[in-house]
Amino acid sequence: MPAISASAPGKAILIGEHAVVYGHPAIAVPVHGVSARAAVTPAIKAPPGEVHIEAAQIGIDADLGALPESDPLAAAVRAALQALGLIRPPALNVRVSSTIPIAGGLGSGAAVSVAILRAVSAFLGHPLNDEQVSALAFEIEQLHHGTPSGIDNTVITYARPIFFVKGQPPDFLQVAKPFTLLIADTGVATPTREAVAAVRAAWQANPPRYERLFAQIGDLAIQARSAVESGDIELLGPLMDANHEILQQLEVSSPELDKLVAAASQAGALGAKLSGGGRGGNILALVEPDRSNTVSDALQSAGALSTIVTTVDKK
Ligand code: MEV
Repeated sequence: MPAISASAPGKAILIGEHAVVYGHPAIAVPVHGVSARAAVTPAIKAPPGEVHIEAAQIGIDADLGALPESDPLAAAVRAALQALGLIRPPALNVRVSSTIPIAGGLGSGAAVSVAILRAVSAFLGHPLNDEQVSALAFEIEQLHHGTPSGIDNTVITYARPIFFVKGQPPDFLQVAKPFTLLIADTGVATPTREAVAAVRAAWQANPPRYERLFAQIGDLAIQARSAVESGDIELLGPLMDANHEILQQLEVSSPELDKLVAAASQAGALGAKLSGGGRGGNILALVEPDRSNTVSDALQSAGALSTIVTTVDKK
């Protein structure tokens, strides 16, 4: 069996994180400048059924059987084997690597799952289709994120901008005019699970207040969709700014995120907001392509660890 590898992009939430968990629409886009990759090779000397997983960046170098149920990489390999009905696959090695920052709101967990599901199933001669990959990646997200909406696994599997509503099939955005986003990392790693759990606790303590805020975010996502689909990109900036303000009210922003959002706006971004679970991680700024270097420099001066420029187009 020849070696097989598969990769999956990162993602950013343009509008709608957190509210999407409660059934409101959100918009997510793939970030092609970063990716997770899984490479599967035959383990020639090992007995059938032996699966070895190596992910040097997170210190994993172990047989599948030695990894706990809760390990996300092992869960993805097991999910692929189970989907193919294989109890004793030919011996194989799975090597995982990623350039997506961990716990940065850019979908590293879902991207790793998608890459593993694709590489393992293709190596074994039965590549899972996108629908299967996304559904299995969602199950793995549930193991690790508690109550995810499904937006991360969907945008990462299909690698296309989506208008997403929990529980509904993917609705791809018709991007009328490409636009440029700048992503900047606070360097503060915060697991999405924690931010989602904190918002849930706050919602349970005061449902009317939180449901009003979630509904306002959902409205912004609907307006953003029409801006993107009519090519009125300049309308998108104020919607991102408004979304950030509501995320502050949801208490998922942080001084580091607010500082980067302010720096982006001062340097001429059309709009900026945190992206993903928040409390750390990355911000997203909408920029004119010819201002991306200026805004990027301003973000680095304001403390950003790194910046990524990405263009959102139909694909
Ligand atoms: C994470 O990318 C977005 C959140 O809304 C969580 C989710 O939708 O699963 C914070």
